Amino acid sequence: MEKIVSIADGIFYVGVNDRDTHLFENIWPLPKGVSYNSYLIVDDKTALVDTVKVAKAKDYLEKINTALNGRPLDYLIINHMEPDHSGALTQILQVFPGLKIVGNRKTAEFIKSMYDLSADFLEVKDGDELNLGHYRLKFFLTPMVHWPETMMTFETREKILFAGDAFGGFGSLDGGIFDDEVDVNYYEHEIRRYYSNIVGKFGPMVQKALHKLSSLEIKVVCPTHGPVWRTNPSRIISAYDRWSRYEYDEGVVIAYGTMYGNTEKMADFVARMLAEEGLKNIRVMNTSTVHESFIINEIWRFKGVMLGTCTYNNGIYPPMENLIINLAHKGLPNRVFGVFGSYGWSGGGVKGIVDYIHKNKWTLIGEPVEVQFSAKEADYEKLKKLAMAMASAVRH
Ligand code: FEO
Repeated sequence: MEKIVSIADGIFYVGVNDRDTHLFENIWPLPKGVSYNSYLIVDDKTALVDTVKVAKAKDYLEKINTALNGRPLDYLIINHMEPDHSGALTQILQVFPGLKIVGNRKTAEFIKSMYDLSADFLEVKDGDELNLGHYRLKFFLTPMVHWPETMMTFETREKILFAGDAFGGFGSLDGGIFDDEVDVNYYEHEIRRYYSNIVGKFGPMVQKALHKLSSLEIKVVCPTHGPVWRTNPSRIISAYDRWSRYEYDEGVVIAYGTMYGNTEKMADFVARMLAEEGLKNIRVMNTSTVHESFIINEIWRFKGVMLGTCTYNNGIYPPMENLIINLAHKGLPNRVFGVFGSYGWSGGGVKGIVDYIHKNKWTLIGEPVEVQFSAKEADYEKLKKLAMAMASAVRH
């Protein structure tokens, strides 16, 4: 029997879990799965808020039909068009052909170009409202959190914010739906990984959205991924504020690319030097074995970034270059960088990283250290100096 979870009287969680997909957006690993959250309001009028990925449409429709209990669906509110949320749109329209889609002008454009379908459409602008009977919905346009058409829907009586991607994260909902039903610490890491890799590029737009919502008394945050925040919504709202301001803690991420261990040895030495300087938050991560999304997640948290590479085809070791390219996409400011690495017969790796640092206007700390094949005593002295410069930089 389908168990439908209630958020308030007549407001239901009808989302689904995806533990089959390996890569979200075909890039980001999902070791803990992901949920696609959708919500149903059963009032004088009925309204569905966002849908789910098409692969999960069958289970999803069963849930909706159970919660509707024979009622028709009047509205489908689309806060976000990315196919992990709009994917089941066609199936929903087949079952409920009389429904009206609610979205903004950009939503209408995307529906037409993505699905080539025409449906009854109610265009809303920033601040418009829709009365369902007992409940009233107010729409806030929040472009680029995470796409240009993104908006949020606020239910004014129970003060529930249907937030789209904002405040959500990776990780399936394994029984518990609400923040008070789950171990929030288990999810927090994956929420920040979602933020830093998917939404993080748009920090200033997230700040604009938070400013727009700041006058609302929000009692429940319903994102399209991850737990529903009904007990402590301010925890996730203030985390989003911090992340989108690019704030950081004291600590250093040392990411390295190595073929035969020489650059890894340098990374471990630098890590030890930082520990001897009293730093507690040090993360040493191998770019060949750790997906860049996990490394970027840590870089989002700490001020210091040390990049070490061996030389490969006269340039940066490819897994390391991939990390740097991804990092550059995010445009993360306020971080400081140190560089080290090795080469065999001609350099190129360290120079390649330094070039990226200059190109992206990142702050370079200390003198880059480059060694032939393996570090010798004099090289370790240089690495020690570099580590001390980094320790000092992350404390200021
Ligand atoms: Fe969860 Fe931007 O989609």
